[in-house]
Amino acid sequence: MFDLEKEFDELMHSHSLFKNEHYLRYFYPSEEVVGRDNELRKLFLLYSNLLIHPNSSINVLVQGASGVGKTTVIKHFFKDFTKIAKQHNIDIKYLYFNCRMTSTYQILIKIARLFNKAFPERGLRREEIIEFISKEIHKNKASVIIILDEANNIIKKEKEFLYYLTRITENFGFKQEKLSIVGIVKSEKGLLRIMPNIVNYFQKNLIVFNTYSANELFDILKDKANRAFNTDIISNAMISYAIELLDGNLDVRAAMHLLYKAGKFAEQGKASTIKMIHLQRANISLFPYQYISFEFLKKMNIHQLLFLYSFTILLEKNKIEYASVKKIMNEYESQCVKRNFNPLSYSTIWNYLHIFEEESILKVRVVSENIKGRKARLSLKNISLEQLQPHLINSINNQEAILYGSK
Ligand SMILES: Nc1ncnc2c1ncn2[C@@H]1O[C@H](COP(=O)(O)OP(=O)(O)O)[C@@H](O)[C@H]1O
Ligand SMILES: [Mg+2]
Repeated sequence: MFDLEKEFDELMHSHSLFKNEHYLRYFYPSEEVVGRDNELRKLFLLYSNLLIHPNSSINVLVQGASGVGKTTVIKHFFKDFTKIAKQHNIDIKYLYFNCRMTSTYQILIKIARLFNKAFPERGLRREEIIEFISKEIHKNKASVIIILDEANNIIKKEKEFLYYLTRITENFGFKQEKLSIVGIVKSEKGLLRIMPNIVNYFQKNLIVFNTYSANELFDILKDKANRAFNTDIISNAMISYAIELLDGNLDVRAAMHLLYKAGKFAEQGKASTIKMIHLQRANISLFPYQYISFEFLKKMNIHQLLFLYSFTILLEKNKIEYASVKKIMNEYESQCVKRNFNPLSYSTIWNYLHIFEEESILKVRVVSENIKGRKARLSLKNISLEQLQPHLINSINNQEAILYGSK
């Protein structure tokens, strides 16, 4: 199929790192579901009942934090499920609603329009629309699945709506049938408070989407990166590094945005691949709340400051993104000599590393931990060289003034 948007994108990006940057835009519907096999299997197990008993109905509650793929998975599942059912001459229709953007009245109209395309958009009372739907569902062969994404919004606005919907056919004397509801919520707690009955109703079929592990996130990002960037623009190591930078915040949206921004920074810098520095810059620009207040520098002793300063000198001088503790020690020792301090030992400095890590200034990667020589590589985290270095120089000058002043 000719896809104008894709073609357009490709033309615009013929000289860029991006092939199709919209794959990294989180509001663009995902091309494919990566992983989530268990959840897909559960959905299939539940809804396969409709294939055998087309007159039945299955209500499911999907729960999970934001950005864990609920919308993506549910949309994909029902698109494929209804398509394959159709190939087997089973008529199952589904309607997707984001309840944050749709009123319950609009939802009812859209359901009514499944049966009559010319159903009037306004003028009818709710009860009349519900009666129409109810009768049509009873008459028709088709099963209908209503997906209510961000369903908490509905419940906040209209307590009764969900209740009505689940009972739509019962209200009119028919056994509830052929109308299934999939509710998607972040948390079931709100629901439980407002409508305990409804939650019980759904709870038999609750599918919980847990947050992604770093490995799952890697697979998703790799897939997005392959679609978004030209070949060999971003390595697996850089994708892993992006995940490290997120520091436990394994939100796919944030991760996608990080790769997108890093790609933009790399382009601006005319780089041919995405490097650590681009991801670091992207991270700082995306999460300004992680900006370090530099208060922590006041708590550090002169040696800790000099060590950090030596690290920044190496990064700056050699235009590198990480340095080994050993190399930093050499620089640190010469800084001490310059200033008439006795340098501390390797092992004392080693013990400081976790303090730097705790303050989120550094990422420490231990390369070898054998007894003879512990080795680690340090890189900056959540902070750029340009930001850190002036503050370090300032703090060192202050401490020196105090130390010498008190002599
Ligand atoms: N398993 C997955 N496979 C592919 N893309 C995913 C997956 N999980 C999340 N995403 C991507 O992350 C973004 C957020 O996912 P979404 O389904 O909207 O999460 P939720 O509805 O749970 O908030 C989407 O842009 C989507 O492309
Ligand atoms: Mg969603």
